[in-house]
This record gives sequence, C-alpha cells and structure tokens, in this order.
Amino acid sequence: MRAEEAIVRQVDAPSSELEGLWDSIVCDGDVKERLVRHAALALAVRPRLPFTTTAMHGLMLLHGPPGTGKTTLARGLVQELARVVNGSVRLVDINPHGLMSGEHGKSQQLVSSLLTEAIPRVADDRVPTVVVLDEVESMAVARSEASLAANPVDVHRATDAVLTAMDDLAHHHPHVLVVATSNFTGGLDEAFVSRADIAIEVALPNELALTEIVRDALRGYGAAYPALAELASGAALSRVGKQLVGRDGRAARKLVAEAAARRLETAIDPGRLTIADLLAAAGQPVREVSRGAA
Ligand SMILES: Nc1ncnc2c1ncn2[C@@H]1O[C@H](COP(=O)(O)OP(=O)(O)OP(=O)(O)O)[C@@H](O)[C@H]1O
Ligand SMILES: [Mg+2]
Repeated sequence: MRAEEAIVRQVDAPSSELEGLWDSIVCDGDVKERLVRHAALALAVRPRLPFTTTAMHGLMLLHGPPGTGKTTLARGLVQELARVVNGSVRLVDINPHGLMSGEHGKSQQLVSSLLTEAIPRVADDRVPTVVVLDEVESMAVARSEASLAANPVDVHRATDAVLTAMDDLAHHHPHVLVVATSNFTGGLDEAFVSRADIAIEVALPNELALTEIVRDALRGYGAAYPALAELASGAALSRVGKQLVGRDGRAARKLVAEAAARRLETAIDPGRLTIADLLAAAGQPVREVSRGAA
C-alpha cells in the first residue's frame, strides 16, 4: 500500500456533504463549544506565532465509549469551523488501519510518509485543513511494557513515527489541525496524549440528551412519515429517554428503526409507530452477541 491510500476523502467545507453532521450530535455540557473554540484558536494563533511560544500542536483528541458521536463530531467540526471563521476549511479523512503493515519497518515508513509528506502535499495551498485520524489507537499504541507483550515491535515504531510527525506538523504546517478519535484513551501512548492541545471526553449521553437524540431521529423520519414528526413533539418522549439510560447515542438514534421492526404493520409503514412501540423497544435489553465455544 502507498501512504496516500490512507486518505479516504477530501472535502472543501462548507459542503452539502457535511451539512447536518454537527447539529445531529447532542452532547451534555459544553463539549461542542470547547471543540470549536480550541480549533478556532489553533487556526488563528499557530500561523502567526512560533511553536516555541505557543507549544500548540494543533492536535485535538476526542475519546469515549463507542457510539457517542466522536467521528461525526470530528467531521462535522469542519463545516462548523468554516461557518465561524467565514471561510473555506478542508476536511481530510484518514483511515489508519491499512497503514499497519505486517512487513518489518513498513508501518513506520507509511505513517511517516502519510503525515509528513502526503498530508502536507494536500494542504500545500495553505487552506486551513482538518485531518481526521479516526480510531487513532491503531497507530498510537502505548509503548509501555504491558502493551509491548501484546503488540508487535513494528506497531511501536509506528507510534514513534506518529510522535515525530506530529512535531513536524506542529513546526512546519500551522494551518493543519489534527482531530484524533479513540475508544480507549488508556491504550493510547502517553506522549501522544500529552501532545494534544485538548483531550475531550465524549461520554455516554444522559437522560435528557437521549430524549433529544430520539426526538431528532423522529423529526428526521418526519420528512417521509409526517406522523413521526408529531410523535417527536410529544411530552411522553422523556419516558423513552429515561428507559435508554446507559445506552449510547447510536442506540438512541437507532431506536426508531428498532421499534418499527418489532411489528410487521410498522415495518411496512413506520408512520404508524406509537409511543408504546418506542417504550417497548427502549425497554429491551441491549442486544447480546452470542459467542461460540472457543
Ligand atoms: N451524542 C449523540 N447525539 C446524536 N446522535 C448520536 C450521538 N452519538 C452517536 N450518535 C449517532 O450514532 C451513530 C454513530 O456515531 P459515531 O460514528 O460518530 O460514533 P463514534 O463515537 O465515532 O463511535 P465509535 O467509537 O464506535 O467509532 C451516528 O449515526 C450518530 O448520529
Ligand atoms: Mg468512530
């Protein structure tokens, strides 16, 4: 594989492709505001002042349980940034998994070539560029002894390459921002986390947020099934949010589909869905994956 192949998409925001992502994510607290403020600050300050003054790497880390909206937020941020700075901002989407080659020394070389050559080449027109490194744990694994037992030496060399490359980006490409996402901060390399200008935990949504996610999903379905837009405005929806406590945002958004699939009538016409259907689906235990005997 060539390093460029890890770049799965480039989009110049504002773009219809990214519309709605940012607003679709409901977060507790001020997660979204902090993310935008830090990104805007990095884009404003880093091109004007040396790294020796700011120590800003332009690296932001979003971590938290699966299905909490990290990837959607990282991509949606680009559209939101274009709005707040009133200019063009480019999204570069990276899938790091393919970079972890089994071949000796290859991962290190690919990671380094991606971050210090391929990405700067894409961004050489100086348009502010946000690189989304999704599931970064695959390339920035902790180099502690414990993980050395579980991870091949090559992965550790790749982590070193990420660190060196982050320093190179910080010094020479101040208009490039990196937003990394991860499901487990514990397994991330400490020196990588320390380079982040901010590490934001995207936690499981609370009852209120869960209710809002279901409401947003119902409103969306309302475009095709107007009765569901009405269901969205009902006060009883808060009971559904209460039932969902402990589940992630993905489960909350999928609840409408899950509820509709419980009866043939609503499967054929989801517009017939009732609050009772939603409550019944929300009360279902989280889906279990049966494992075969080892
Ligand atoms: N807080 C949230 N508010 C609204 N929708 C959400 C939220 N969290 C997740 N979703 C929905 O769940 C789906 C998955 O979101 P996303 O892929 O961004 O999560 P993630 O945190 O990156 O998950 P993973 O860690 O598994 O990669 C999307 O359809 C998204 O709209
Ligand atoms: Mg994700």
